[in-house]
Amino acid sequence: MQTKIGVIGGSGIYDIDGLEGAKWVPVDSPWGDPSDAILTGKLGGIDMAFLPRHGRGHVHSPSTVPYRANIDALKRLGVTDIISVSACGSFREDLAPGDFVIVDQFIDRTFAREKSFFGTGCVAHVSVAHPTCPRLSDACETAGRDAGIKMHSGGIYLAMEGPQFSSQAESLLYRQWGCDVIGMTNMPEAKLAREAEICYASVAMITDYDSWHPDHGAVEVSDVIKTLQGNGTKARDLVTRLPALLGGERSPCPHGCDRALEYAVMTAVD
Ligand code: ADE
Repeated sequence: MQTKIGVIGGSGIYDIDGLEGAKWVPVDSPWGDPSDAILTGKLGGIDMAFLPRHGRGHVHSPSTVPYRANIDALKRLGVTDIISVSACGSFREDLAPGDFVIVDQFIDRTFAREKSFFGTGCVAHVSVAHPTCPRLSDACETAGRDAGIKMHSGGIYLAMEGPQFSSQAESLLYRQWGCDVIGMTNMPEAKLAREAEICYASVAMITDYDSWHPDHGAVEVSDVIKTLQGNGTKARDLVTRLPALLGGERSPCPHGCDRALEYAVMTAVD
């Protein structure tokens, strides 16, 4: 099987650089319309598929992003590896705006989203004990370092519903829980990627210190956007370096992401 890299771009990232044969392709899904058409093409000889999570023009809020349609559409295009790129707040002094974190764990506090492809008719319980793919995460970290980005390896991502930012009390609570970053979009995306048996890595671009930091005030969208403009350029540089690291011919995922359903389906099959 050939590697096909999917990139889900968050706020501030609505395309990727240098795609040969770039074409926006609409993809139908029984789960509804994806956030947008998908930008396909080749980078360094590797097939790429880019989906702007919020749609071009930023038309979907974190709660209305069609997560199931997005993951399904990427699966239908043959995507084997998804890199999620998203803006996040920081709970740690040393995770500064402009730095990137390779997230490896989540606490899911979202509550107003469809979270599974499985329900009535076919029931499945996949493991998300380790929700991200270490092989893909390592490639993202290397690509980021090669691009000169300050990268942090591993981190706990608090997924909140939004769209409002956290109160100071919530922010302090999440810090006590040991969370490293906060965002509104990686859940249920990571869970759905696992159900779809696609490797998933999360690149969190720090834009602010959320609301806990005594020397930084409340989160302001204008500050987030200012940091995002620099982060967007860095993220595109990181993505451009991935094909060389991931290669063309794809061996089975050593962590089993691509076989997640093997022992997960509960419904009897005749
Ligand atoms: N995205 C960027 N900054 C954020 C924050 N502080 N909380 C939630 N989502 C964010």
